Amino acid sequence: MTFDRHRRLRRTATMRSMVKETTLSVADLVYPLFVVEGKHIRNEVASMPGVEHVSLDELPKDISDIQELGIPAILLFGVPGAKDDVGSQAYADEGIVQRATKLIKELAPDLLVIADTCLCQYTDHGHCGIIHDGYVDNDESLSLLVKTAVSQAAAGADVIAPSNMMDGFVQAIRQGLDEHGFVDVPIMSYAVKYASSFYGPFRDAAHSTPQFGDRKTYQMDPANRLEALREAVSDVNEGADMLIVKPALSFLDILRDVRNETNVPVVAYNVSGEYAMIKAAAQNGWLSEKETVQEMLTSMKRAGADIIITYFAKDVARWLKEEQE
Ligand code: PBG
Repeated sequence: MTFDRHRRLRRTATMRSMVKETTLSVADLVYPLFVVEGKHIRNEVASMPGVEHVSLDELPKDISDIQELGIPAILLFGVPGAKDDVGSQAYADEGIVQRATKLIKELAPDLLVIADTCLCQYTDHGHCGIIHDGYVDNDESLSLLVKTAVSQAAAGADVIAPSNMMDGFVQAIRQGLDEHGFVDVPIMSYAVKYASSFYGPFRDAAHSTPQFGDRKTYQMDPANRLEALREAVSDVNEGADMLIVKPALSFLDILRDVRNETNVPVVAYNVSGEYAMIKAAAQNGWLSEKETVQEMLTSMKRAGADIIITYFAKDVARWLKEEQE
């Protein structure tokens, strides 16, 4: 025989498990949470079954579930009660994210709170910065993003995750955090963020659909690969501690490139559309949710992700726990 016998290593479950190259672990997962103003609110997002808007009085239940499942971190998104053209609720001391952060750090000091730093949920026009003559003004937006990041750190956020895609945001935020004494608060930068259709369900959840135009003058063209490397390199040079690639599933090649070209932890964002797609197929009985989700997330780790942000985090944590029992 002259051919190789690859099936030798696949014969039994024990053998397969010994030669497994990639393992999914709850320690890698970040669960996104949407907090809203008001009381007694727990509303499911229609396009994201299982994902809810939660008011602060309801939040302790979610936090204890997350902790019980051993999930180490949450990514916090705020849905404010009021919006204006400068997104002032994003950097208000009593803003929804600021209050939620304080509460979570009291309830669960060890749970990492990652604050998403952006303006689009807070602006009435739904863009991620300030508008001048119909165009998102880069440099003016930076000062508001710095204010947002500093107020989040002051509220106790452990990590700042700027998702706005303005040029120079990492440098500006790093400088702002340092000047306010937050030298030890890391930046998890949404360095490589594509202008993607896969964010549709999130925009329902966060009420952040742009009221005119689109995000293509600041988010990246899905056709581009070298541009992703330029973005990643800029952010590392400006002081990013971790880099996010987003979305993950259609951009696994980019995840691998960023892993190979940089030496900081790389984060895959398994976005809302990727979640909705699998949920819908599973609800129709067209896919097995558990197997498909695990395959999808394992592929992100295999592509080079150290950390995965996913709306499936609680499900995965539960499945992994069941397997151990
Ligand atoms: C805010 C932001 C978005 C997402 C995370 N932060 C939406 C957008 O850029 O339109 C998307 C997350 C998801 O789809 O799960 N800028």
